[in-house]
Amino acid sequence: MEAVKIRESIYWTGVKDWNLEEFHGYKTPNGSTYNSYLILDEKIALIDGAKHYLSHQNIARVKSVIDFSKIDYIIVNHVEMDHSGNIPELVKLAPQATIVTNSAGKMALEAHFDTEGWNFQIIKTGDVLSLGKRNLTFVTTPLLHWPDSMMTYCPEEKILFSNDGFGQHYCANTIWVKEAPFDIVCNEAKSYYANILYPYGMQAQKALNTASELNLDIEMIATGHGCIWEGKEEVSWILNSYAKWASAQNDGSAVVVYDTMWGATAKLAETITSVFEDAGIRVVKRSLSNKHIAEVMTDILEAKYVVIGTPTLNNELFPRVAAFVTYLKGLAPKNKKGFAFASYGWKPGVVNKIQAVMEELKWDTIAPFEEKYTPKSDVLEKLKEHTKTIFD
Ligand code: FEO
Repeated sequence: MEAVKIRESIYWTGVKDWNLEEFHGYKTPNGSTYNSYLILDEKIALIDGAKHYLSHQNIARVKSVIDFSKIDYIIVNHVEMDHSGNIPELVKLAPQATIVTNSAGKMALEAHFDTEGWNFQIIKTGDVLSLGKRNLTFVTTPLLHWPDSMMTYCPEEKILFSNDGFGQHYCANTIWVKEAPFDIVCNEAKSYYANILYPYGMQAQKALNTASELNLDIEMIATGHGCIWEGKEEVSWILNSYAKWASAQNDGSAVVVYDTMWGATAKLAETITSVFEDAGIRVVKRSLSNKHIAEVMTDILEAKYVVIGTPTLNNELFPRVAAFVTYLKGLAPKNKKGFAFASYGWKPGVVNKIQAVMEELKWDTIAPFEEKYTPKSDVLEKLKEHTKTIFD
């Protein structure tokens, strides 16, 4: 198991998680990677670790280049266990190494592990760590997406080691975006943002601003997950996409998401969808019986309109819709227009639970719509007219 050279004396020493199906609730059909990088200079630095159960891959790749006793620094950009699960093992192999992280990173490492005897060097944004020919510059990115998150920039190589930022849950035979199917990698990057970083748009904008203030000239983004962005087109695509997603821009499209028990809510969903289609608006209709909530969130990222429907079960939201609404509330998409719809048997009102979440998210809403049992054609006509008012 060998390291992969990404520049002279710089190696990818990450691990591949081919069979990862889900990542704390987020569906990952293309697996993932936990990327680690080794820089050989007058001083030697290892950037980030890996998930504990794949530590052997990380260790083997480092050993294919250099003995652990030669490592001077282990840089911890982020303490979440997918990147730091094997840090104690790495420290055991390289007890002479200094752990370089920010103050929140040190606190998080101490909260996860027994760090007795570890040497720490605490950095903040703008601090420089000289390795000899290369001078690593740090940019802390708090809450993008943990308090400890940070990125490491190498100006001599124009490489940004971005950890979670700009990542994708994607595992392939290549470590390069330019050698992977571009549409799949881009969709995984979009899905990653929608399901992991969505609540932190303000922090993402701040990170982009800091990168611009520090005049970071970026030719390569070496992420913590998935493939590395290199090449003008590739790097511009991901930077521009983050600028768009972080500022909650939309493309004018619509998402109708629902579940159904006996088909009534599905009829309402189909009618609403037809209104968008007839208005020439790109729309997707997603049944939660068939689509995972993570896929629906990816649809929602660039949508302008989001309409959510549920059957009523025991005076509550249908369970899959309840799960989706909870997930949506946490990810907190901004700048949407929408309304809720529902079918009920004998007690109306459940629709207000969804509508309340939309209002909490400060969406621009029109009134909710609900109907008893199976909607007849006159009700569907009424629903069409109601849906059209979303364009007002
Ligand atoms: Fe990839 Fe926040 O860990």
